[in-house]
Amino acid sequence: MQRVTIINHKGGPGKTTTTVNLAGALAGLGHRVLVVDVDGQGDVSSVFLDHHENLPLTVADFYNDSGVMLQDVIQPTTIEGLAIAPADDRLNEVDTTHNFENDPRSTALLDALEDAADDYDYVLLDCAGKVHLTGYSAIVAADLVLVPVECSRFAVRNLATVHREFCSVQQLINPDIALQFFLSKVQPRDKTAETTRKSLEKAFGVEQVMQTEIPFGKTFLTAINIGKPITIHSKRSKGSLQTIALAQELIELLQGGNHVQAAA
Ligand SMILES: Nc1ncnc2c1ncn2[C@@H]1O[C@H](COP(=O)(O)OP(=O)(O)OP(=O)(O)O)[C@@H](O)[C@H]1O
Ligand SMILES: [Mg+2]
Repeated sequence: MQRVTIINHKGGPGKTTTTVNLAGALAGLGHRVLVVDVDGQGDVSSVFLDHHENLPLTVADFYNDSGVMLQDVIQPTTIEGLAIAPADDRLNEVDTTHNFENDPRSTALLDALEDAADDYDYVLLDCAGKVHLTGYSAIVAADLVLVPVECSRFAVRNLATVHREFCSVQQLINPDIALQFFLSKVQPRDKTAETTRKSLEKAFGVEQVMQTEIPFGKTFLTAINIGKPITIHSKRSKGSLQTIALAQELIELLQGGNHVQAAA
């Protein structure tokens, strides 16, 4: 089982869209996939489940020492090979502390996922766009931290917090954790894509920036609005093909272990 945490403390770069589409791509390639919603907004839960409100047990229950197991929370989806552990707004109550590293709840997700080690090939954790304990706990639970980055001259500066949290987990908990950035919502002929890639490579290392870029496109919006991964909604679109390329690049990185870990 490989665990990929999709995070960026900035709101809106495409974390949830990436989670939905990568999940679709990986399931489409025949892998067993679990999506874990680590955002009290419940966006990814609402995409995959018709009735995601008023669920008796959700990811929030992992944090309150109630003995709830992953199997109690997981729901099937209509997509073959794809299941979800949904969230609800009780998750926001966990995010009242800023002392992440010393909080025993920071290993809540890591512990919960241990129960499913043989049941899934890939686990994708979708985080909220804010600095919070649940996001830190999702980095603690990750083999690889995947950061979608919107092209902007401020991109690198906005990534300081997520990089600091990654380095903290690398030093304190998991020396093998990997970090990858990719360019998201790339507009055609946008020169800032090239400059953003260069600044990411300079700040974090060439090996840390994925080759595949996800284009900006209306098909992404349409697919998510009807609750489907782009790889199912519009199989042959550029967005779908690029998403499959991203999934394949990710699989290679995870299998080969040929990623270089970001220097702490
Ligand atoms: N490649 C894309 N092309 C066009 N629109 C996109 C693309 N990716 C995401 N979007 C749109 O951008 C908006 C934000 O995307 P999304 O909700 O996935 O971001 P997020 O990082 O999960 O946001 P949040 O921080 O609120 O959780 C949505 O309206 C989504 O449909
Ligand atoms: Mg989101």
